[in-house]
Amino acid sequence: MLNIVIFGAPGSGKGTQSERIVEKYGINHISTGDVLRAEIKNGTELGKTAKGYIDQGQLIPDELMIDILASVFDGFKDSKGVIFDGFPRTIAQAEALKKMLAERGQDVSVMLDLEVPEDELMTRLIKRGKDSGRADDNEETIKKRLTVYHSQTAPLIDWYKGEKKYQHINGLGTMDGIFADICKVVDSI
Ligand code: AP5
Repeated sequence: MLNIVIFGAPGSGKGTQSERIVEKYGINHISTGDVLRAEIKNGTELGKTAKGYIDQGQLIPDELMIDILASVFDGFKDSKGVIFDGFPRTIAQAEALKKMLAERGQDVSVMLDLEVPEDELMTRLIKRGKDSGRADDNEETIKKRLTVYHSQTAPLIDWYKGEKKYQHINGLGTMDGIFADICKVVDSI
């Protein structure tokens, strides 16, 4: 079973690299950002709640987010493994994920931390906002997302080091080059 947590600041390439990992290793992909955006698009109650947080660059509260993740994960019972993209984002979420996997006799195989300098993150997200119109890709909200990342999400780096699952990946360079580095790590586990 291959359970990968793909980690990094907003714009670090989690979604981009997840697509490649899914294709090569045949595992399932759970992107919590995509799940929430689909709820917003469908105009559900959950979507309305999520939009308030996302537009402010804030995290959806843990209790709600953990329930959402659990229900999506429930749909992947016969899977070869899952790549978790955008989850966990807090220590409480990491503990919940560990428990969810343990209930199936599993654990996180590896946590891949895509590290990218902040000016590059800003450049990528401003460009994507212009191309795709994603509502939270404007300078003001990106700055808030980065602040939230540093205060609430980055502590997971030490948490996963403690779990002996942490792997650093240089997220600056070509998409192919970064993917090759990821494959070296994944193939070694
Ligand atoms: P989410 O959708 O997860 O957003 P994010 O973490 O801010 O990540 P992004 O999708 O912006 O970036 P990415 O790292 O996937 O990079 P990508 O590959 O797209 O979450 C959105 C919001 O939902 C959160 O702010 C929060 O409110 C809420 N939320 C989600 N999960 C939650 C949770 N667990 N708990 C609470 N709240 C939650 O790449 C970015 C751009 O860069 C693209 O245009 C891409 O083409 C380009 N790019 C990628 N790689 C390279 C490269 N090597 N060189 C040049 N350009 C590149």
